Amino acid sequence: MYRLAVIPGDGTGPEVVMEGLKILHAVSKKSGFENETGEFDYGGERYMRTGEVLPDGALEELNGFDAIYLGAVGHPEVKPGILEKGLLLAIRFGLDQYINLRPVKLYPGVSCPLKDKGPEEIDFLVVRENSEGLYTGSGKFTKRGTPDEVALQEMICTRKGVERCVRYAFELAEGRDRKQLTLCAKTNVLTYAHDLWQRTFDKVATEYDDVKTDYAHVDAVCMWMVKSPENFDVIVTCNMFGDIITDLGAMIQGGMGIAAGGNINPEGTSMFEPIGGSAPKYTGQNVINPLAAICACGMMLDNLGEAEAARAVDSAVASVVSEKVKNLSVGKMGYSTSEVGDLVVDAL
Ligand code: IPM
Ligand code: MN
Repeated sequence: MYRLAVIPGDGTGPEVVMEGLKILHAVSKKSGFENETGEFDYGGERYMRTGEVLPDGALEELNGFDAIYLGAVGHPEVKPGILEKGLLLAIRFGLDQYINLRPVKLYPGVSCPLKDKGPEEIDFLVVRENSEGLYTGSGKFTKRGTPDEVALQEMICTRKGVERCVRYAFELAEGRDRKQLTLCAKTNVLTYAHDLWQRTFDKVATEYDDVKTDYAHVDAVCMWMVKSPENFDVIVTCNMFGDIITDLGAMIQGGMGIAAGGNINPEGTSMFEPIGGSAPKYTGQNVINPLAAICACGMMLDNLGEAEAARAVDSAVASVVSEKVKNLSVGKMGYSTSEVGDLVVDAL
């Protein structure tokens, strides 16, 4: 019996979460485990009604669940930053979900914008540091609004924070066939923050003789992801760069419609989400692709220790995209949101 916190969130979040839960129920019946879900109405609507993003005690409450399943965050009538910081980042930081794991995997049959690249070439993992870097909100303005204004935004990297992330990436790489780990940073410019990353990476590498290591600056990583994505097996990177390269990653795996991620605290409660936004203009139209949310559900099952159920979800998604939903973009799927969910359930 798993206790799952469900936060459908804003925009199309609730629609895709509903499909994910449909798959969760089907696969749990098949695999013989049960779930108890607690739903939370956190998001833009609640914020506009109450003026509060997360109520007191919310983090403690969420921390008591086995996992969190999130739809999307972002509301057109709420100023940018409020929900992102007050909800998404508050949970990531508050529950110390220090890894953001984002697979970039092209399933057979899915249309890919890269010429001559297929599933053989596009199958890697991005390990994004998820608790520090440019995301801590540390900084300040001086002389705000004047011609002499200065804005400071600090990139905070701690030895412990970097080391636990890098170590997680080495462990992951060691468990894969290719056993290859690339550090993606910008050591030629970020001569303090990313010097720490490089030194930490090199030190941890000495404990993993069987993992092949590599380094690439983030701009070159963007180039290689398009030109030779087969170069990558596991990439480890800081919070900001991980945010950027995983949107690029989503595009080469067929689009936001299938890109999922896990905010992982290996010792605590983790949160799983489709990585695209709330897509407000498509809300309620039953047109958004739920596969990213379904894949996030698969990652959640894996994290809960239900590896077989996770594999079943993955194979069901693979068969649906190879036989039916080949184009994953909104308006081009040929099926509605709920029909795609039904196809996955049937494939299961
Ligand atoms: C993501 C999103 C978030 C991030 C935003 C909404 C704060 O873009 O999950 O990738 O930057 O991490
Ligand atoms: Mn992002």
